[in-house]
Amino acid sequence: MAVETVRGVQASEPNVHGYRSFSLGEFTFRRDEYFVYVKWPTGSHLMSADAFLRALQRDVAWQFFYGTVNFDGVVGTVNHYGTVDLFAGRYNDAYRKAELDHVENFETPLIMATFRAILEDWTNASFDPFASPHETGTAFGPKTGDNKAAINRHRVTAKRMVAVPGDEPVRSDATGFRINRQFLDVPQDAPEIIAEPGFEGEVNAFNLFAYLSRSDVTWNPSVVSACKNSLYCPTTEEYILPIIHGNDRVEWFVQLSDEIYWDVENRDTGAVRAKDLMKAGDVAAMPANIRHQGYAPKRSMLLVWENASPDLPGLISSGKLPINPVDF
Ligand code: PHB
Ligand code: FE
Repeated sequence: MAVETVRGVQASEPNVHGYRSFSLGEFTFRRDEYFVYVKWPTGSHLMSADAFLRALQRDVAWQFFYGTVNFDGVVGTVNHYGTVDLFAGRYNDAYRKAELDHVENFETPLIMATFRAILEDWTNASFDPFASPHETGTAFGPKTGDNKAAINRHRVTAKRMVAVPGDEPVRSDATGFRINRQFLDVPQDAPEIIAEPGFEGEVNAFNLFAYLSRSDVTWNPSVVSACKNSLYCPTTEEYILPIIHGNDRVEWFVQLSDEIYWDVENRDTGAVRAKDLMKAGDVAAMPANIRHQGYAPKRSMLLVWENASPDLPGLISSGKLPINPVDF
């Protein structure tokens, strides 16, 4: 491929379908009307373009997230918080046994710039990788325009809490966040705040259900409150979590509405470990050594509770902290 390098990103001229190809280390990425093709020295792999772009969008927006982001059972990334592994077949028993797996480590800015360039070039005007399939047009076909507004959305990361002056604002029709079609029954009232005299500027509250009912994205945990490293990251879910997330710490899930099916697997081999249906009100602690993918038949509200301490992966892998946060 005729490669041109812009700020470290290696890209070719557009192919007959209008899409550039990219290379990063010994990996290459190309797409046509339906599929994405990933190649490495010992193998190659194909994914549907919509699934690939949905996964890539999360990896980019979440800055490689906590631990492992599997795009599917073969390719993905591991975040080392400063550098990132890009792998193929590394966490797949069959690829490992056949010695077809491959891993390369990159400085975070280089892999981020490359992934951003792929996402921007391969996302057509009709496709929103964050939207539910019902609320977006097609990812397929020859290249037609771009969708920079969708792929560069502001990520909500409250420093203290949504609705606190100077922090993330609440959502409303006026700010362009309409109530989702599946949450039309969610009450939109706001809490009344009655502070003791002298504490008026220090007490705050907002209606989390109303806030979530106006989310325009799916499978995108956003920080709505932070207490030191303890982050409440609720999200609205519909269809399939576009990544299989491999944990490097424990995560708590609180199912706030409706239902989500979870597939839980061994993080390193992909062996099935549990099938789980979470119903409204259920609470789960996902262990620190699993990977999981969720399926939401109808838009639902999920609270993901994360501890963002940078010490956790080391404490858990060295055995100083348990894999399970609770024993029954
Ligand atoms: C997770 O990997 O725990 C996760 C990711 C995105 C979501 C929900 C859960 O929307
Ligand atoms: Fe997870």
